[in-house]
Amino acid sequence: MNYEPVLNNEHAQSSPFGGRRGLTILAIESSCDETSAAICADGKILSNHIANQTIHEKYGGVVPELASRAHMQNIVPVVDIALKTAGCTLETIDAIAFTQAPGLIGSLLVGAQFAKSLALALNKPLIAVHHMQAHVMANLIDDPKPTFPFICLTVSGGHTQIVLANSVYDLKVIGESIDDAAGEAFDKSAKILGLPYPGGPLIDKYAQQGNPLAFKFAEPQIPELNFSFSGLKTSVLYFLQARKKEDEHFIEKNLHDLCASVQYTIINILIKKLKKAVKQTGVTQVCIAGGVSANSGLRKALQKAGEELNWQTFIPAFEYCTDNAAMIAITAHYKYLNKEFADLSISPSARAEW
Ligand code: KG4
Ligand code: ZN
Repeated sequence: MNYEPVLNNEHAQSSPFGGRRGLTILAIESSCDETSAAICADGKILSNHIANQTIHEKYGGVVPELASRAHMQNIVPVVDIALKTAGCTLETIDAIAFTQAPGLIGSLLVGAQFAKSLALALNKPLIAVHHMQAHVMANLIDDPKPTFPFICLTVSGGHTQIVLANSVYDLKVIGESIDDAAGEAFDKSAKILGLPYPGGPLIDKYAQQGNPLAFKFAEPQIPELNFSFSGLKTSVLYFLQARKKEDEHFIEKNLHDLCASVQYTIINILIKKLKKAVKQTGVTQVCIAGGVSANSGLRKALQKAGEELNWQTFIPAFEYCTDNAAMIAITAHYKYLNKEFADLSISPSARAEW
């Protein structure tokens, strides 16, 4: 579609937060089990609201059909509160952005249809955003921000990637998982330990009181900058099966040490590859992103590696690590400036290619 980008002071509106507001974007994220809406003005996040779906807890994982239904219930109130918090109305926004891929197709469809309907009804441009690119771009929300080029380790529930960011418009995946994602390794290990979904945050919590060297789990040897995490859950499973034969309360008695050891293994795998990526590219500004970047152990390990190896490290605020619409909004901001608009015929896609 043919829309001219607004320059910051044209279209400027008076803002209840003081000053004048330029390019204003409403963004919607609905790729998995969080319904989120955010408003970004001139590259600054004015609001970011997230409705979590607790319904999946009792099933031990996200149930796609239930996620779609919950998105349908949540989307209007979440968008409404994002607009109100930012002091905007639908009429005062300049574009509508949504997560186009990857994700659960039914969940993506709710956000995509909602965004497309708004774009059509309001006659405003539509911007399609790739969820994994947006996780990387979350590092450009708050100061201090990395400058280009930088490396980003994106670790989420569905993906593990090392991305070389040469510019906003030139992001390259230079390494990725060949099987499970780091988040899956946390969640599946947690499930084996009898913890509810999503287990990542709980492993993080219990690990803080445990000994990371108490138990040793296998670290796979994967070439280049790629990862493999599927062996870890099997290693945890076999280890526990053997120990439970000797003591059926082994997990309860050792939960903190088990969590600390699993977390230590995952972090070790991630940091080793990150060091390799820095060595290969010569790029020493290093970011992390995605749900697993909320992990306190990973955040500390990145800082430690940075201090030891003289990297500049960047970690998004917690609210911008797990799925959120603010990262969709910031990505859309740059897409708008580059006139990357989507046609109303665009469909969401569950696939991850970008
Ligand atoms: O990015 P995200 O919110 O959703 C996807 O795009 O997948 O990531 C969700 C993943 C889940 O696997 C969850 O267990 C993990 O991030 N996670 C954590 C922590 N917080 C969320 N893993 C470890 N420690 C945490 N504190
Ligand atoms: Zn995500």
